Amino acid sequence: MSIEIVRTVADLRVRLGDWKCSARTIGLVPTMGSLHDGHLSLVRRSLAATGRTCLTLFVNPGQFGAGEDLAAYPRDEAADVALAEAEGAHLVFAPTADDMYPEGFATQVAVPGLGDMLEGEHRPGFFIGVATVVAKLLVQALPECAFFGDKDYQQLLVIRRLVIDLDIPVAIEGCPIVREPDGLALASRNAYLTADERRRAPALYQAISGVAKDITGGADVARACAGATKALLEAGFSAVDYVTVRDAETLKPVSDASRPARVLAAAQLGKARLIDNVAV
Ligand code: PAF
Repeated sequence: MSIEIVRTVADLRVRLGDWKCSARTIGLVPTMGSLHDGHLSLVRRSLAATGRTCLTLFVNPGQFGAGEDLAAYPRDEAADVALAEAEGAHLVFAPTADDMYPEGFATQVAVPGLGDMLEGEHRPGFFIGVATVVAKLLVQALPECAFFGDKDYQQLLVIRRLVIDLDIPVAIEGCPIVREPDGLALASRNAYLTADERRRAPALYQAISGVAKDITGGADVARACAGATKALLEAGFSAVDYVTVRDAETLKPVSDASRPARVLAAAQLGKARLIDNVAV
């Protein structure tokens, strides 16, 4: 049977309601499309953990700032649907912007603190856009579980916070980052890299892995991050927004590796702004 595509919240509720009536557990995989193996690993995890998997395809205008790449963001719905179907997903929810944000739409979900730092500082409004659309998708579908990649680690923590704060009864599962053989984390925006930039891009993973290794061995955190920033600039990145070591739950800065921590980085390479993180 071929995969179903639904485009309205009303149709989504009818379809998922049928599954709920037949006691199927539902897994939700929210995406902005341009699917790669990182997304498909979330589908695989959902298929293993739940009875029915719904993948959402929606390039959310609310999380793009002025001057960002909303218009250029890669879109290929037919290819995405084919990939979701080949992986075994049961349903694609591909709403229009008008259905998600009808005339008069005004509500925003903000997660101050976690959502203001790092990506929130460099991309003002980004996490309000993410939190708002994810809250909507979770309430629309009310799955048992929703799956997000550790690649967007700060996003994952913001989403964990919002479901607790808003009493949304959905388990949030973070899934491991999928990397190319040379270490580059899979991301839809990798498509912006030229061949030369693609060769340079793994320097980001090397730099943060080096920080994790050095501070585990007792190196000074600030010095390790400064060394990584220098290495990225030397590798051809044009700007480094941050290389930082943060508490794995609160994202507050840490000065040693005595508690679970995460090295997070964001840097510009050509037209692509790459982010990555590793556990310490
Ligand atoms: O990670 C993404 O692709 C997006 O931020 C998400 C969670 C689908 C919300 O638009």
